[in-house]
Amino acid sequence: KGPKVDEGPNVLVTGGAGYIGSHVIYVLQKTRRYKVIALDNHHNSSSGCLDRVSELTKSELPADATEDEKLSAEIDVHKCDLTKPDQIRAVFEKYGKEGVWGVVHIAAYKAVGESTEIPLTYYANNVCATVSLLQVMDEFDCRRLVYSSSATVYGTPPVIPIPETTRLEAHSPYGKTKIMSETIIDDLCHADKRWRALSLRYFNPAGAHPSGMIGEDPRGRPGNLLPLLAHMAVGRVKDSTLKVFGDDYPTPDGTCVRDYLHVMDLASGHLLSLDALAPESFIFKEDATAYYKAYNLGKGQGVSVLQIVDAMRKATGFDFKHEVIGRRRGDVPDLTADPALAERDLGFKAPADLTTMCRDLWNWQQKNPMGYGEQLVNGVKGV
Ligand code: WQD
Repeated sequence: KGPKVDEGPNVLVTGGAGYIGSHVIYVLQKTRRYKVIALDNHHNSSSGCLDRVSELTKSELPADATEDEKLSAEIDVHKCDLTKPDQIRAVFEKYGKEGVWGVVHIAAYKAVGESTEIPLTYYANNVCATVSLLQVMDEFDCRRLVYSSSATVYGTPPVIPIPETTRLEAHSPYGKTKIMSETIIDDLCHADKRWRALSLRYFNPAGAHPSGMIGEDPRGRPGNLLPLLAHMAVGRVKDSTLKVFGDDYPTPDGTCVRDYLHVMDLASGHLLSLDALAPESFIFKEDATAYYKAYNLGKGQGVSVLQIVDAMRKATGFDFKHEVIGRRRGDVPDLTADPALAERDLGFKAPADLTTMCRDLWNWQQKNPMGYGEQLVNGVKGV
């Protein structure tokens, strides 16, 4: 499926230097079905990450790879603030009309708690930037979009596992920016049928590429559970007791349940989505009112906080302690996906199990105790 061309059409990935973005770029580069252009403002990412992606794809080229093939492992990276339309335009101008075949829009601020403290920054960066991006895409006749949405659009879902037909509600400005962006894209596709767009509602991505070359590298103390546990096990967070945010939820062990999927499986979902927007494998019915659909990208299996702690104890050998404290604002009891629609329409699969996710996360963290920051070269802080 998908365009079969030697030098794939140009696909622009916003947030390309981030955790999800770098794994998506790796998958796109590896299949060589698309030529990747990365945009990032490096607010929560480092450019070193994309050097690693190039290194990784180069290391997997056949021994007799041509100079061109080695060159194609390089990634065009543009530092770009998506809230500035002129900066987006400058990138598109570099590739001219019809130069960018499609866009994977991942760039966004994503901390639920932070979004309640600085909502304006979140609306500017997540919603206004999306509008600017869509406007510039339209100017350059680029009308294929894969949009990074989130299970957070379901608020407290009435049904578990969650189907895409569930009404959308958000409790935080972050969640509202995801619903607003989906709505904007949906309306655009209804107004202009030259647009083809998919929103991918991520559940909880986890793990890292099995090589340990790329992985999740949040700035400062991680807010999310898995990277926090990895930082504790590697000694980057001087604390061996996890604070569990409440164990009085209506769940099997009282702690929140989430649907963790391997970041490599999530990344593959983006390749399948781009392929689904290619003319020859069009997934929409010709008489559709709009060429727009939203899909859950999850495993369809719920795992509790305490089960995660246990899985990470096994993967790292680190003896995590935990202490139950009050609930965290904005948390919901259970976010488990019904992934049937993505499996049916896109051929999406998320086979990697929790043990594999924790093993790959730990492999990344052990090899990069300080993430992409200063590297310990033979135990010495190197470049
Ligand atoms: C998982 C569970 C916490 C830390 C977040 C964003 C969501 C999406 C994915 C972007 C929860 C519990 C956590 C800790 C804990 N991001 N926990 N102690 O909240 O499901 O989703 O990341 O799309 O928008 O909200 O992930 O890893 O923060 O929390 O008990 O120190 O772990 O309460 O139940 P979450 P998380």
